[in-house]
Amino acid sequence: MTEWRETDSIRPGVHIDILTNIPNPYRIYKSWREEHPVFQLEPHGFWAVCGYADVKFASRRHDIFSSVGVKIVMQPEWLEESYWRDFSFLVQDAPDHMKSRKLVNKEFGLKAVKLFIPFIEKAAHSLISEISPDQEIEFLEGVAAPFSSGLIDHIIGTENSQKLSDIQEYSERNKQNILSKPDGEYIENLQNSVLNINQYFDNLIQKRRANPKDDLISKLLSTKLEGEKLTDDMVSNLVELLLLAGTNTLSHFLCHGMIQLSRSPDLFYKLKKKPELIPDFIEELLRHSTIGPISLRKTTEAVILSGVTIPKGEIVLLFLASANRDATIFPDPDDFIMKRANIHEHLAFGIGAHQCLGRHLLRLEAKIIVECILKSFNGISCPEEDQLEWNNSWIMNSIEKLPVRFR
Ligand code: HEM
Repeated sequence: MTEWRETDSIRPGVHIDILTNIPNPYRIYKSWREEHPVFQLEPHGFWAVCGYADVKFASRRHDIFSSVGVKIVMQPEWLEESYWRDFSFLVQDAPDHMKSRKLVNKEFGLKAVKLFIPFIEKAAHSLISEISPDQEIEFLEGVAAPFSSGLIDHIIGTENSQKLSDIQEYSERNKQNILSKPDGEYIENLQNSVLNINQYFDNLIQKRRANPKDDLISKLLSTKLEGEKLTDDMVSNLVELLLLAGTNTLSHFLCHGMIQLSRSPDLFYKLKKKPELIPDFIEELLRHSTIGPISLRKTTEAVILSGVTIPKGEIVLLFLASANRDATIFPDPDDFIMKRANIHEHLAFGIGAHQCLGRHLLRLEAKIIVECILKSFNGISCPEEDQLEWNNSWIMNSIEKLPVRFR
């Protein structure tokens, strides 16, 4: 074990809020990778890991980089414990992680998600056919959000999840403020959101217990884990994880897709002529516009990355979005290049045991709606990146609104 390298490269005075509400975090990641690829962010001293090789190594070493690190987001010290969230297997390590993940693994496998194709096609068509050429629409609220919530409702059995504003508000609030204790009014509002979320899940589970349907919630209520039936809490934690992980991600990803298509009319035209290239477009978009910038971990022992020692018990942010722009793996990383030979090495879905459960579903959903848009229109325009209202942070690369005009 080497000594701590007590140099500026460990605590260079970079504040985590530098990533809040900016159009292009990638130039920041680039300077981090070049100047100090492993360093501590202000104000809490969380460790940022920015290079591809380190991020991949750490993502695979669950024995050293524990997923309990995710709890700092859902279980802030300043919030009473009864209001904490518990996102099921997302925060678990082996062996519990795999036991719980297996409860839903098959449902999100390639074969299983293909069964949803007719439903996804119908949902995409019904939303897109409502839009007239040259009409300005707000793409996030008008198309992407109802599309992703409608699909998750259908697949897992939640109801009207787009209207579940408490969940949205809860995650929005967390995104910006989780790291420092907010004022009393803020905490009260957050607690009310949590009570409403709990009530929503209690009602839903009671309804499905009384009248099971052909959905994932009903299935989970009769599933056993190591011979024991799942408790209501276990089911609601799991469903809440799927709901949160499966809705905002898809909707913001689609917004990034529209921005990319608007930036390059040639690309729009090429994909329209050759829809078989849409999967390549989606894969490069995953790399280029990584929606979830980080995986959160906590070290279980001291570890050396890029010559810097991270001690035991530290919170580590593995910057997937930065790794995906690492020029040693992806040449000209800021350029949007379809058919990169090694595109499947991108880390947008993470890697290792916690690799995104919804990745097959996401690829399918995105392919179907992009294809529907390309078939229906000849072009798209939306404001330049720096004219848009961003709502991103270290947790999510998201946008507040996306005004769009199709032609
Ligand atoms: C562009 C869209 C998406 C991106 C970029 C994305 C990204 C990720 C990443 C990076 C992880 C790993 C988290 C970690 O390492 O701690 C993850 C996990 C997960 N994702 Fe996704 N995701 C997307 C869409 C979805 C969808 C549509 C679902 C549908 C249900 C989903 C469900 C999950 C779940 C349940 C986990 C936890 C897996 C585990 O801990 O074993 N995701 N996702």
